[in-house]
Amino acid sequence: MVVGTGYVGLTTGLALGYLGHNVTCVDKDTAIIDKLERGISTIYEPGLEELLRDSGDMIKFTENMHERLPSADIVIIAVGTPSKSNGDTDLSFVEAVGREIGAAMNPARPPVIINKSTVPIGTARRVETVIKEELERRGAACNFCVASNPEFLREGAALNDTFYPDRIVVGTEDVAALNLIRQMYAPILEQTFTPPQAVPRAEGYSLPALVTTSPTSAELIKYTANAFLATKISFINEFATIAEKVGADITEVAKGIGLDKRIGPGFLKAGVGWGGSCFPKDVRSILFTSSQYNCELKLVQAALEVNRLQRMKVIEKLQQTLKVIRGSTVGLLGLAFKPNTDDIRESPAIDVIKELLDMGARVKVYDPIARDKYRQAYPDQEILYCDSAAQAARDSDALVLITDWDEFWHLPWEEIGESMGKKIIIDGRNMLSGEELRQLGFTYTGIGR
Ligand SMILES: NC(=O)c1ccc[n+]([C@@H]2O[C@H](COP(=O)([O-])OP(=O)(O)OC[C@H]3O[C@@H](n4cnc5c(N)ncnc54)[C@H](O)[C@@H]3O)[C@@H](O)[C@H]2O)c1
Repeated sequence: MVVGTGYVGLTTGLALGYLGHNVTCVDKDTAIIDKLERGISTIYEPGLEELLRDSGDMIKFTENMHERLPSADIVIIAVGTPSKSNGDTDLSFVEAVGREIGAAMNPARPPVIINKSTVPIGTARRVETVIKEELERRGAACNFCVASNPEFLREGAALNDTFYPDRIVVGTEDVAALNLIRQMYAPILEQTFTPPQAVPRAEGYSLPALVTTSPTSAELIKYTANAFLATKISFINEFATIAEKVGADITEVAKGIGLDKRIGPGFLKAGVGWGGSCFPKDVRSILFTSSQYNCELKLVQAALEVNRLQRMKVIEKLQQTLKVIRGSTVGLLGLAFKPNTDDIRESPAIDVIKELLDMGARVKVYDPIARDKYRQAYPDQEILYCDSAAQAARDSDALVLITDWDEFWHLPWEEIGESMGKKIIIDGRNMLSGEELRQLGFTYTGIGR
């Protein structure tokens, strides 16, 4: 059973069903369950719709875990763990699921419970306590295990990362539980399945490691990974600023350092900063935890601060080129926090749009997928939603590229330039060729180049 059918839960549930397990996907949101039952995906993720269509009888969707929980061998908790205003993690969704498990499970046949949500240190124990309390309320008791199994998938490549992960981390001290979890993941660990058509196995992919740890180490692994990746991006963004000052090109610098195996090429793309549903909240969460332990994480704190400033870099660049923002029309390309997802949570676009509106600009936006999610989240914002990048550019005094969607590679730039008020492009992802655009008469500004 998988509880929560968001980016993590739905992907996990569909993948486990594809691998031959009987899966029940539970979500408290009846509208989500209703859609999933009709074969309609509630999130955008490449390959998900196909897998959902082909899932047949292996997967059931329900808003009520009570009926099927007593017969489940494993319950995976994959609900949201948003930030509280003080940076701490809001565990109310996770604890609510714990209580429901305690209320519905069969003490004679307890399932192994897996925390897949990203949760602060000690949450496996906390969930255990909550379940025990609920069992006591029923006058029942039993031994059961809550293991930590953090998820590392990337939105936009969620199915790929689930079928072909770099590693699977399982934190538990219970050998029987570990064996059951290993069995569940065996097709992935041994790659014994035929790849789904929509999610082919990359050539040269090698078997993932199973990393077994204590629950506490597993919980810390997830935060350490995200804090490291976020810091790596902030690091290159900080060097983008010095590259601009000295006249270097940060993309060349990143290539030059990334070829060093000790550094690696990933997460060295300078840009408008990191966002999404994970890095910002997870960085804030580990900073909160560290403060509780009186152990300051100065590097991580700095990474967060660099990221906050980085988001405003495109505004500074607009001011430098456009001079007057009030009354100008600015076209924004991309709302999603990264390409191939409709997720806009903590997207840099949110801050940039707000700043532009506060400064009196007229804002036109285009995103191939995330438009509806953005409109739902910010219904009162007076912005113009466009059906294409060309439409967002028309009559705009500047274009700002926020999300590096593939389709922005192939835009008819000559035509676009002719339709614009002023031919200004701020490329927040260093995606476009400055040289080609300058030849077409654009004033092109990237980040750190
Ligand atoms: N999205 C990612 O890329 C990613 C990657 C790794 C880890 N994570 C972590 O995984 C967890 C889930 O993230 P997500 O992005 O999938 O979240 P999400 O917000 O997309 O989905 C969470 C789902 O849980 C459901 N839910 C909440 N309470 C419930 C309850 N009591 N019973 C049943 N369903 C309930 C919600 O209705 C929602 O559909 C988070 O802790 C997140 O940090 C996310």
